Amino acid sequence: MPQETTASPIGRDTPRVDGPLKVTGTAQYASDFHFPGLLYGVPVEATIANGKITKLDTAAAKKMSGVHAILHRQNIGKIFRSTPGEGMNGICIERRPPFEDDVVRYYGQYVALAVADTFESAKAAADAVAVTYAKEKLNVDFKLTAEDDPDEVMTSYGPAKRLQSERGDAAGAFATAPVKLDQTYVTPAETHVPIELQGTTAMWDGDKLTIYEESQGVFNMRGVLAQMFGLPKENVRVITKFVGSGFGSKLWPWTHCPLAVAAARQVGKPVKLVLSRKMTFQSAGHRAHTQQRVRLGATPEGKLVSLEHDYVCHRSMLEEYQENCGEATAFHYSVPNLRVHFGWARRNIGTPSDMRGPGAVPGLYATESAMNELADQLKMDPVQFRILNEPKIDEGEGIPFSSRHYVECLQFGAEKFGWSRRNAEVGAMKRDGLTLGWGVAGAAWIATRDSAAANVELRDDGSARVACGAQDIGTGTYTVLALLTADKTGVPVEKVEVVLGDTELPLGPVSGGSWATASVVPAVFAAADNAISSLLQVATTTPGSPFEKRKPDDLAFQNGRVFVKADAVGGGVPFADLLKRANLRLISGSGRSEGIFGSKEKPKFSMHSFGCHFVEVTWQPEIARLRVNRVVTVIDGGRIINPLAGRNQIEGAVVMGIGMAMLEETHYDPQNGAPINSNLADYIVAVNADVPKLEVHFLDYPDLELNAVGARGIGEIGLAGIAAAITAATYHATGVRVRELPVRIEDLLTSSVLA
Ligand code: MOS
Repeated sequence: MPQETTASPIGRDTPRVDGPLKVTGTAQYASDFHFPGLLYGVPVEATIANGKITKLDTAAAKKMSGVHAILHRQNIGKIFRSTPGEGMNGICIERRPPFEDDVVRYYGQYVALAVADTFESAKAAADAVAVTYAKEKLNVDFKLTAEDDPDEVMTSYGPAKRLQSERGDAAGAFATAPVKLDQTYVTPAETHVPIELQGTTAMWDGDKLTIYEESQGVFNMRGVLAQMFGLPKENVRVITKFVGSGFGSKLWPWTHCPLAVAAARQVGKPVKLVLSRKMTFQSAGHRAHTQQRVRLGATPEGKLVSLEHDYVCHRSMLEEYQENCGEATAFHYSVPNLRVHFGWARRNIGTPSDMRGPGAVPGLYATESAMNELADQLKMDPVQFRILNEPKIDEGEGIPFSSRHYVECLQFGAEKFGWSRRNAEVGAMKRDGLTLGWGVAGAAWIATRDSAAANVELRDDGSARVACGAQDIGTGTYTVLALLTADKTGVPVEKVEVVLGDTELPLGPVSGGSWATASVVPAVFAAADNAISSLLQVATTTPGSPFEKRKPDDLAFQNGRVFVKADAVGGGVPFADLLKRANLRLISGSGRSEGIFGSKEKPKFSMHSFGCHFVEVTWQPEIARLRVNRVVTVIDGGRIINPLAGRNQIEGAVVMGIGMAMLEETHYDPQNGAPINSNLADYIVAVNADVPKLEVHFLDYPDLELNAVGARGIGEIGLAGIAAAITAATYHATGVRVRELPVRIEDLLTSSVLA
């Protein structure tokens, strides 16, 4: 290299580039945007969970001051249904357009919308709409029984076989297995509760529609809205500059969104509709309640011979969302006989949807809990038991893993945690008058890519700009794009302008599935390469340029400078100088890469992230107090682009996992079907006081099958497995097996471990 190589910023702890905007209150979230003439919409929520609207009286509401319109089935105007189509263009979990019929299928379903000058007037008018219902018997029963669905069903994401995976003869091998376990694990409905509420601000300009929405996927939202309002996609613009987290609840459009759009169409003014916290529990998705039977058979030496994972998840009356608990079951361990099967139980509830680590998180809670229980039965160390059953390939798909270091995660974690000092006997470990419980569990999550495009500009002041219609949902996507661009262009991170969250920009991936980072890498790299090759053209064609007589092929670009490849030494010329000499403000390049998620081609490699958690709980039997005291998490998530934000991401997931294991549950009122604890006082999530010091380690093996950096995604993996590690630690401390989350004090009152 002609000049000293500056180390790439990839892999360096980098504070979020958008941090200052957020902590100074300058960052504008979707509902922070205001427009002249803006009106406010407040929906009327059904107060029954099953039945029909027999009368909807808007007379009083319409007369109230400041009210512009009361929308309902008779006057909302045409709204079409949407269909999935190709790619991430038309995904919508609740397909029914608002007010499509007068049937109510869940509590909180929108039945009318008040539009007024102020939020307060709209709320008062919504409250004044009198709705009469013919109620029918509702079903929000907690106990789930699989209904008699066909072997192949249509789900929100397309057709799916209820028999998800099968090899060998699981039932036969189980029947003759020398050691066996047959248990059922239950996870309750959970609600995402991101701090920023869902909401839409919609405005029309002729037949062009613009919406501000806190979306995890602006392009998909554009596709859905274009279909629902009969518009060409080009006429719809969706803007999402910042997202106050989503956890999946903002992946796909919810019904409030077309409602705001229809209202803006009718009143001819911008309309803002922000959900109340209560509404977000009713009609903006939740993690489905699951009931999972796991049967494991093993030899006395601890080799798995059979694994059956049979689960039922609840679904809504309207929609076919499947909580894919079997996501990781078929490949996580080596076992010759396996069967994964699912069923649905219909309930009068708002439709469930993706929530952080959908499927795999409740699924791994069940299968990893079963692994821990069987290890205890075998009197084996649960770490050794897992290592003994490490597969050589993905036995579900019959293909190799692109990169799997699960055993190393377990070994490294055990070392960091001090696992060798474990006394396996229940209640035997004490410290400072407290009983200690130790537990472990493994984690897995898919690694994949969505289609993505980007544009990179090099500018004459030595700065760069990178644009991509991806979203930053609080996870650090602004910073990742700055790092990738800095790596390729040599422009310092602080001089890279990142523009995200707008369908006017090049196609961005959905910020979901932990795939945003992996998806943008090839697009940004290709865009930067194209910008650099245009720069080399300019360098050789600009009169007076130091490279005027050269061919572009003779030149190279590194660390922001152009130089002659053949020169062993010499400083090269900064790109800004070349642009200035050519009187160019900027030079730009575009790049695009195709997604692999949902591709019909059979993949060559099984791509997943792996990890494990080691947990210590403390138990105070005198007051039945259980606390998570220490967590060591090891993640094999490919190359980590920004370890600072990466650790933060995993810590956040572990905090959410403490909530999942010990606190979170959405309760449906059997009388009216309402999610009854629909507020942050009654729906309890883990907060600072619940969270001990967390230790996060990354193995940092690049997965080069996925992209040139080898980065996978880390948004969801940290939540997988943690609940099973906490319940295993709980058992170790208290002697109580809790198989229905969350762990409650009343579960522990039967503990035999005394003070
Ligand atoms: Mo995640 S549930 O894909 O936002």
